[in-house]
Amino acid sequence: MTTTEEFHGFRARADAVVYHHPVVVDNAYTKWFSKGEASAADVRHLTVQFSVFSHLFVEAQLRKVINAADLETYRAGKEILMNELGVIFKPGADSRRGAAEEGVDPELVSTEGTVDGSRFRFAAAHFEWLVRFAAPLGLGFEDLGKRYHGTSSTLFFCDELLRIYGSDDPSTAEGASYAVEHWAAAGFWKELIAGLTAFQSRECPSLSLAFWTWHDKVEDQHAAHTADELDEAMSLPGFDEGKFLAGAAEMLDGVKAFWDGLWHDHLEGVSK
Ligand SMILES: [Fe+2]
Repeated sequence: MTTTEEFHGFRARADAVVYHHPVVVDNAYTKWFSKGEASAADVRHLTVQFSVFSHLFVEAQLRKVINAADLETYRAGKEILMNELGVIFKPGADSRRGAAEEGVDPELVSTEGTVDGSRFRFAAAHFEWLVRFAAPLGLGFEDLGKRYHGTSSTLFFCDELLRIYGSDDPSTAEGASYAVEHWAAAGFWKELIAGLTAFQSRECPSLSLAFWTWHDKVEDQHAAHTADELDEAMSLPGFDEGKFLAGAAEMLDGVKAFWDGLWHDHLEGVSK
């Protein structure tokens, strides 16, 4: 058992790592992207690199599930893994969105609920959403999601996900999860959506932004569960705060490498 004081101290130290990390407070790429000045080449480059990250993330998520310290974490990890692969979240019985279960597109499917007892649909895999998003940009299945499409900074991020987020040390893995969720909830989806909306109305009206808006909606919900997650992490057998904080900080360094790579590529004209 941990005391309230211990919990508050830990929470303050975790927040200090997460809220002050440069990728959370000062992401040059997404800040620029939100202004809507990205060219078609910039949007294509972002799409390909994002597809590599989001496809290889599935590997890291599987590793996280395999290394889960208890059944609860194992199942929570499976919810994310199976949903990524195409099992739609089934909303609770009290939800009015029950009918949406028939759809496969991100503008139709639920952002909450469980994969337990729900349906697998090929076309509901997040990677397939991205493939459909990318079609009006002139990108096909073969242009997306493979390791060999990744730049060195994208691959560094993906490998850090496997190593830290998928770690077999529960304190390290929980620290990385905490960091990834905070990064994701800190607003980068909204910045990308703003830039993509401008690009869509300027030169690509057939672009569907639902892949991005679906994920943004999910993150808004995750942000609400933060305190519970820290409490659960702290009660893991053998919990090591030092490893948790190091896992969080190193994971954010990996995230930063990804965005800095895209920023560098934009400035250097690699994405032209
Ligand atoms: Fe996803």
